[in-house]
Amino acid sequence: MSRREDRAGSAGPASAAVASPSANPVLRGLRPVISLRRITKVYRMGDIEVTALTGVSLDVVGGELLAVMGASGSGKSTMMNILGCLDTPSSGRYLLDGVDVRRLDESVLARVRNRKIGFVFQSFNLIPRTSAVANVEMPLAYAGVSPKERRARAMFALEEVGLADRAHHLPSELSGGQQQRAAVARAIATNPSLVLADEPTGNLDSRSTHEIMDIFARLNDAGRTVVLITHEPEVAELTRRIVRLRDGSVLSDESTAGEHLHASNMGEDTRMGAV
Ligand SMILES: Nc1ncnc2c1ncn2[C@@H]1O[C@H](COP(=O)(O)OP(=O)(O)OP(=O)(O)O)[C@@H](O)[C@H]1O
Ligand SMILES: [Mg+2]
Repeated sequence: MSRREDRAGSAGPASAAVASPSANPVLRGLRPVISLRRITKVYRMGDIEVTALTGVSLDVVGGELLAVMGASGSGKSTMMNILGCLDTPSSGRYLLDGVDVRRLDESVLARVRNRKIGFVFQSFNLIPRTSAVANVEMPLAYAGVSPKERRARAMFALEEVGLADRAHHLPSELSGGQQQRAAVARAIATNPSLVLADEPTGNLDSRSTHEIMDIFARLNDAGRTVVLITHEPEVAELTRRIVRLRDGSVLSDESTAGEHLHASNMGEDTRMGAV
């Protein structure tokens, strides 16, 4: 976690808890990459309605690293799926990079998901009987990247997560932490500006959790916006902002003590090398 500590050491005074939706004084006034406005989500199952989100408003500025916490059923995954354009809200507005995603047709949305957003899930979701590098190549294939470049970029992404030496192993030949690192490599292979992770360390031991969080910290240092769901306070504390949900709405939204949101690398070309 040395990077975290370094940054905490060089940070200015930690800001106190701040009100939702515009979270942090450091970033206030900057244009958000994510802007949720009074988002509701009602699932309908036959005659039964389940309200998962009751009016969530949230701004996230480019370069933020934030954790979403809350009890089981509080709406975290529902919100994440909406952020990732995997699901649509029942009402409210979602602006991604200033664009109302409702206005995008399915093919444009698919492209946005592929190019701008990388997903990491608790259960890794690697394709079995397919090598790590082939798994990482998958989103690049969807993006139309040539086989040769695909391989080069996938290997680069695996290097980024310290897994180049396991590139040709099957998921079943990798430890849980290694599988999750392969999944992170797959999420970043297309060089997305936004990385969304739904309990990425939920199935990992503490060593692998630290490895994964170090990778997220590095991705964030390189300018990517990272939003992760976690149940673990010690994971949330490694981020710079914690948004808590309760019963489908934002209960609190605060910057974490000792950490500091960095606005400095916003708007830059934030590519990590060739990935
Ligand atoms: N596809 C669905 N159909 C019907 N109800 C759903 C669906 N997905 C989620 N829900 C309901 O919406 C509410 C919020 O669920 P969600 O998965 O967002 O919670 P969560 O905060 O991610 O919980 P957990 O920590 O257990 O993952 C819950 O009451 C859940 O049962
Ligand atoms: Mg969930």
